[in-house]
Amino acid sequence: ADSDRDLLLSYIRDVPDWPEPGVTFKDITPLLRDPAAFDTMIELLGAVGGEDVDVVVGIEARGFILGAPVAHRLGAGFVPVRKQGKLPWKTSAASYSLEYGEATIEVHVDAFKPGERVLVVDDVLATGGTVRATVDLVRGGGADVVGVGILMELGFLNGRDKLADVNIQSLLVV
Ligand code: PRP
Ligand code: MG
Repeated sequence: ADSDRDLLLSYIRDVPDWPEPGVTFKDITPLLRDPAAFDTMIELLGAVGGEDVDVVVGIEARGFILGAPVAHRLGAGFVPVRKQGKLPWKTSAASYSLEYGEATIEVHVDAFKPGERVLVVDDVLATGGTVRATVDLVRGGGADVVGVGILMELGFLNGRDKLADVNIQSLLVV
């Protein structure tokens, strides 16, 4: 509902010139700090994958904070997608471009079973590279991405253009 969106939006703090001049950072810590707003966010993100989600994937680092409570609420398991070099077991990796250079994320090779229904969760969709790489890792593991739930989409960066083959739903578009 619009009132839910207004509630969530009211707890996101704009921080000008951070981490560098000219960039306005969207700080979600006030939202996490408020029990009612936090609960609303987790409920709405959990609804993105429909009735039958086996696994929720959270993307390091801020996606962990959202993804784990969504998984627990849905009675699903949780899988972390992590930055390169953090996971202890055998991994699959996917790279994506940043403004300068490349980033690589990884998931354990045995994180998914074939045909499992996966909901991916993250806080922000910006250029879309992070979610694109994550979706590719899940599918590479033989599972199905039934949805991507995002708290906040930066619409002007057009990240959605990289994700035409994905059911991606953002609670807020700014
Ligand atoms: C931020 C944000 C998303 C990603 C979106 O994460 O939390 O995960 O950027 O950007 P994109 O759509 O352009 O790929 P970041 O990599 O800064 O790290 P963090 O979550 O560990 O803070
Ligand atoms: Mg992140």
